[in-house]
Parts: sequence; structure tokens; C-alpha cells
Amino acid sequence: MSGAAHFQIGSWYMVAEGRKENTVYWELEQQFHETALYRPMKMSRYEAGTELHYRVKGFGGSDEADVTLVVERFVGGGFAGQVYQVQILNIAPEKARLEGLSVGGVYAMKVLIPPTAFSRLFRNLVYWIAFQGPFQAQVNPSAARAGALWQKFIRRGAKIRFGDDRAVADVFATFVDPGLGSCGELSEWAEGRTWRLEVDDHLDLLARWRKGEQVDQESLGSPEYRAKRAFMEHLVRLMHEMGAHECARQYEWSTCKSQPNCLKRKDEEESPYRGLVAVDFRAGLALLPFLPMSPGDFKLIGQGLIRGSLAQFDRGDLKTLQRFVEAHGDDFSDMHNSLEELKEEERIYRDSIPDITHHHVRLLGSPRLWATMLKGAVTGCRVRNLIDAPFEERLLKGRASAILFFMIGLIPLLGRVFRKAWGQRDWRRHYAGILTSRNYCRRAIRGKVIEVLISWHRSGRIDGERALVVARNPWRFSYHLPFALLPSKIHRFFTDWHYARERIDYLVARPVRLYFNAKQREQWLREMVTEGRNNQLVSNEDSEVILSRIGEPFIQKYLKSLAVHLCTMPVTQIVSVLLAVIYVAIHPEMPRTQTWAIGIGIIALFQVVPISPGSLVRGLYVLSLVIRERNFKDYHVAVFLGFFKYIGYLAFPIQMAYRYPTLARFMAVHWATEAVHMVPVFGERGALLEREVFNLFYNWPLTIRRRMRKRAQMRTGMEPRYWHLALCAVGGAAIFFIADYTYLSEAGVLPALTETWALTALVPLLCGALATLGAGGAKLWKRIVGAAICGVAAALFSLVFSGCMGYEIGFGEIAVRFAWRAFVFTTLTSLGAMITELQLPEPREN
Ligand SMILES: Nc1ncnc2c1ncn2[C@@H]1O[C@H](COP(=O)(O)OP(=O)(O)O)[C@@H](O)[C@H]1O
Ligand SMILES: [Mg+2]
Repeated sequence: MSGAAHFQIGSWYMVAEGRKENTVYWELEQQFHETALYRPMKMSRYEAGTELHYRVKGFGGSDEADVTLVVERFVGGGFAGQVYQVQILNIAPEKARLEGLSVGGVYAMKVLIPPTAFSRLFRNLVYWIAFQGPFQAQVNPSAARAGALWQKFIRRGAKIRFGDDRAVADVFATFVDPGLGSCGELSEWAEGRTWRLEVDDHLDLLARWRKGEQVDQESLGSPEYRAKRAFMEHLVRLMHEMGAHECARQYEWSTCKSQPNCLKRKDEEESPYRGLVAVDFRAGLALLPFLPMSPGDFKLIGQGLIRGSLAQFDRGDLKTLQRFVEAHGDDFSDMHNSLEELKEEERIYRDSIPDITHHHVRLLGSPRLWATMLKGAVTGCRVRNLIDAPFEERLLKGRASAILFFMIGLIPLLGRVFRKAWGQRDWRRHYAGILTSRNYCRRAIRGKVIEVLISWHRSGRIDGERALVVARNPWRFSYHLPFALLPSKIHRFFTDWHYARERIDYLVARPVRLYFNAKQREQWLREMVTEGRNNQLVSNEDSEVILSRIGEPFIQKYLKSLAVHLCTMPVTQIVSVLLAVIYVAIHPEMPRTQTWAIGIGIIALFQVVPISPGSLVRGLYVLSLVIRERNFKDYHVAVFLGFFKYIGYLAFPIQMAYRYPTLARFMAVHWATEAVHMVPVFGERGALLEREVFNLFYNWPLTIRRRMRKRAQMRTGMEPRYWHLALCAVGGAAIFFIADYTYLSEAGVLPALTETWALTALVPLLCGALATLGAGGAKLWKRIVGAAICGVAAALFSLVFSGCMGYEIGFGEIAVRFAWRAFVFTTLTSLGAMITELQLPEPREN
């Protein structure tokens, strides 16, 4: 038995002693039971330490057994369900043959109902639109069973294809969980992790590998990434070959969210290629043809249409599976019964919902289909705990009552109450109690308040102490009620003075302290490193390297600058809100809605412009450092990046990359992943977006730096050339001269820059590119400066040419035209040169 229970979300571990670690929850639960209500407590998920009893159905010969298990920790959950790590305490009868399950063993338990109300609603709505019925894997044991059986077959297929059935997590039993009102399954606990964010300075090579080109294997980086991609591709192909067409989308790379469904086993750490295991064969969201939810969905919808599947979820092709099984007779010799079972369960499952896009005409002419559907609906109600066992029997016998029961559900608001009162004895007594006894009514209210407090406490709306106080004095609940409409953090902010003070301190005072206090800065870095180590963003060796240099003056300086960046975080928000308020205040004559709309527009505008008041302050701060210390070299990246919004926060991590690559790598990962995790679904740990952001901010700069260094080295042997700059400038100016001339002869005036915007953009970019391409062995900065000079010269020449056209033009106008052209041209020629340098292919070694 493990003494310490782990609490994990994604790959974040917190070790706490004892299993029942959430003492507030257990105290509240106890208080609920003290109310002695007739109805059971409402559950949305289990806490660590909860003991559960299930009647489970295994996949060996003898069928069912009673299993007692304890929840070790809640692992997570999306739309399909909630995942726990559990340990089996007891199996009865002792000699029951439950293949794979044993007392003391640790398993993964997936209950097919999402932990949050929003996910539940959204998932069920999408499913309802697709199939016109409740989410079957949750409410229909046949559907849950069929899904697990498919997984069994795919696992065997993987053994044939990959030579190793550890590539797919094994599933051992299915069950119905009456507490949550859902079906569930017990499967192998695959101790694993999502992929590492690998450092790779050959991303260009990786891109070519992705396209299927032959590349130099020696230099190719990102082995875990490549292994996972290849593994998932093979798995998808295998699943299609086995007929699991729709389920295959769980591993379809291009959905951008399938990556966490495949883990890397911890016991295979020596090799980046081995130990991949597929753990999630339960789709959450149905795929509707008009509602693609990720880039890959477009392709999947097309493929579905070709197969004749308009609304996709987990439909498989049993004939294809049968052919596959027959083609590998020896490997499947022990699974014939399973295949028969799968066929039967699939039939019940598919016939339990209207599913217009698949059944279509059958819906009109098949009484058997309707009978199965009705039966399925009744069973579904039982699984969801909407009716008790005696009532289930009654509905199964009397069709009229069943139909009436479902009709009652259609009554808005009260329909649920009527149904509960009719279908469950407990609830009947509960409602009767409320109506007849004041004391019971008071207890019922208290019970309800406790249930809400539990969910509030979980979502961080209320701290434990306060939750317990409110539970004892339910009238206090009314203070909180209006805030419940707000997001959880804001609710807490307004109702919890300590929390509010802490937040204000964290956001405002802490950065200032960090700026002034070296000790605190050190502590700050230490905490970041520890957190990074827990999240597997940094290896143990690397974190030692970082911590060993913590006292160096430059690190201190960079950390200080980082603190300044934090201080300036609220600047933009404050300025934009202030401006909006001022605007609204000084325009009393305008209609209110209009001024408010403009006010909100002002705030929105500040969010999207690339340079904001906050970023300006940051940029100027770095500039002031450069001037004060007369040191450009140590700030040369930050001084430019600092001026830009969002990426400005990465200015110092990138700057540090120069002197302290390990620390920089860690910082970039820390900040970028923190930001990306705010994105729902796609921002999940281990999903594609996180990696792309990491590549963008860390691996691309590395790749570019490597290429530039190599090119600089090759150029050392070449002579620099500059005379071609004059040619570029004259050539560019000549094009503008022709354009100006044509325009003048047609319109009678010279064109403004904006009227010839395409030329204005393209010609200088091209000039810049040519300037650097022709510069022979010149150093990089000289190439860029050369391109810039070329831009100024082109602006000057073009004006002189145009001046010669004999058009009457005043000196002031000339000056203005020159200033504009010079500005735009110089910017664009330098940009053209930089882009060219970045885009130049890998220099060849000879
Ligand atoms: N059998 C398992 N062993 C270990 N971890 C698992 C297992 N099944 C799921 N997990 C973990 O739980 C996470 C969520 O589970 P998953 O089945 O993908 O649910 P969903 O996609 O609905 O969120 C996975 O990414 C994985 O980290
Ligand atoms: Mg998943």
C-alpha cells in the first residue's frame, strides 16, 4: 500500500501524506451526512481517499465480480470522462477470474462523465445534435463495453504490427458507477509522461524530414517528437486497417490535441524512441460536418463523407475487423468470443439512439429498432441514476409509462423534479419531507448549500475555512450568491479580503520588491527552477547549472530587468481603461451606448497594437540601461524586442541565451508554456501548440543562429563588396521614376506613397535582398547597414529624378516626400536584407 498519495494534473506532482488529503471536502461530506437527507449526495467527481464498490465485468471467462477500490488521485479529464489512479482493495468472490486485475494492484479508472458542468453540457449537446440521444458511452453499458472491446482488439493488432502489445494500454473491466451516474472502465495504469520539449537547433532539417525527404540522420534532432509522430501515424493506419475508422481520430496528429493521448512509459527512459503507449480510446466530442473544431477535422470530415458517415463519433466497421481477425487467425485464436460479444454490443449500442444520419429509413419501418431504443433509454435513465431499480422494471414492462416518463422530462424546469419524484423513492420522500416538515426543509437547504460549497471550494471560489463557516451558517450563503455569476477568481477576490490583499500584493508590490531585493530575486529564480523541474521542463543537471550561477552579477541584472517587465504588466491595461473612461466622461453629448462601444473599442485596440504603453516603457527602460552602462553588447536583443508587446516578455530570456544558454532555455520555456496553457483544449500540456510555441521561441532562434554562424564562417574567406549598392539604389529609384512619370502624365499630379503601395513595399524589399546577396564576404551588420543606406539613397535618387520631370513643386513638399520615402524605404530595405539572411538555405560544406 502506498502511504503517500500523489496529486497530479497533467504532469504536475504534489506529494501529500495520507490519502484523504482534502480535509475540507471530507469535513463537508460528513456535514452533509449529518443532515440525514433521504436523497444521496450529488457527486461530480471523487476525492483522493474515496472508497468505491463496483460490480465489474471482465474480459476473461467467468463474468462478474465485486471490486472494492480506493481513489489514489484524480488525474484529469476532458470531454470523454474523468480519469483516476486507483488501487484495488478487494475482489469478491476471491476466486473470480478477472483477467489482469488483482488485489493491491494500481489501475487507471475512467468514468465516462466529465468532471465539470460546462464540459458535460457541451459534450452532450454536440452528441445530441449528431445522434439525437444522450451520450451513449456514459449511459449505455453496451456502448461502454463495445468501446473497451475495440481497444482489446486494437491492442492485439498492435502486438502483430509493432511486435509489442505494450503499445496500447490494456483494459480489464467495465462497470456502472451509480455515484456519478455513468459507465466506466478499469485499465492498465501506464506510468508515463507526455513528450519532452526537446532542444533542437536543426528545425529546418526537421521540417524537411516531415515532408518525407531524405535528410542527414546525424544532425536530425527532436527524437521524441519524431518517434511519437511516427508511432501515432502507424497506429492510425493500423486502426483504419482494423475498421476502427472513427476512433482513429484519437491519434490523428493534425487535430493538434491528440498528442496527450499517447504517453511515453517511464520505464523506457533510456531510449527516446521506445515505450510509447496509447491510453485514450474514448472520443469525447462528436464530429459534425458543419462544426470542425481543429485544423485536422476538415480532412476527417471529408474522409467520413466518403465512408458515408455524416456525423462521426466512434463507429467502426465490423466486417473489416472480421477480415483482419481472419487474416491473423493464430494471433486472435483466443478472441472469438470477444468478437461475437462485440458484434452484439455494437448492435444494441447503435440501435439505442435515433441517429438519423445512419439509420434514416430504418427509423420508419423497424419496430424492433424502436423497441431497442426505448429499452436503451430506460437503461440510460437507470445508469444515470434518474430512476431506481423497481421503477426501471416498471418502465420496461409498461411502454405507456415509459413514454409518459420521457414526455414529462420535456416540461421546462419542473420536468426534472416530477421525474425524480416519480422515478425514485428516495427523492419522493425527500420532496415530501420538504413540503411537510420545516425542520427537514431547513436541512435540505443546508444539504444543498454544502454541495455547492464543495464545488466552489474545488474551483477556488472559496477557501476551506470560509466554506466550513458557511456550511455551519447557511444564511451566509446568500452573501455569496450574487458573486457566483462572476468568474471564480473574481468571486474570491470580492468575498475574501486576505485573498484580495494577496493578489494585489502579488501583482503590484511583489515586482517592486523583486526589483530592490537581491535575496528575493534569487528566491524567485529558485522557485521557478523547482517548479520547472516538477513540470519536467528542465533536467536535474541543467537546474544545478542554473542554480550554481545564481549569484553572478549578470544574472542578477537580468532578473532585475525581468522584474521591471513584471512591474509594467498592468501599465497598458491601466492606460487603456483610463483613456476609455476619459473618453466616455468628456463625451456626455453622445448616446451612451455609442460612447461605451467606443470606450470598449479603445481597450480592445490597445490589446492588438504591436507596441503599447507598457511595451514602450519596457523598451525605454532597456534603452536607458544601454545608455547608462554604455553597454550595447549585453542588451542588443532585448533593446529591440523590449518595445514589442507580448514577445517583449521574452526579450530578456532571449538576451540571456547569449551568456547563459541553460538559464535562457529554461526561462523561455517557463514563460511561453505558462502563456500557452491558458488556451483551452489546444493549450493542454503535451499537445502540439505547446511544442510549436517552444519551437518558435527557442528552437528557431537556435536554428537561425547556427545557420548564421556557419554562413559567417564561410564568408570569412570572401572579399566584401559594396559598389553594387549604388546599382541597387539607382535601379530601385528608376522603377519609381517610371511609376511617377506614368502617374503624372495621366493624373497631372505626383502619386502619394499609399497609392503605389505595392511597389512601395516590393521594390525596397527586393533592393534589400539584392544588397545583402551581392555583398560577398561582408560582415552581417555591415550587410544590413548597407541595405539601409541603399534605401536612403534610393529615396533621394527617386526624388531627384521626379524633380527633373519639370513638375512644379515647393521645397516643403519635397522635404516631406523625402522624409516619408526615406523612412519607408530604409525600414523595408533593412527588413528585406534580414529576411533574406534568415531565409537563405543552409550553406553547403565543401
Ligand atoms: N491508462 C492510463 N495510464 C496512465 N495515465 C492515463 C491513463 N489514461 C489516461 N491517463 C492520463 O489522463 C489524461 C487524460 O486521459 P484521457 O483518457 O486522454 O481523457 P480525455 O482525453 O478525455 O481528457 C491522459 O492524457 C493521461 O495523462
Ligand atoms: Mg485524451
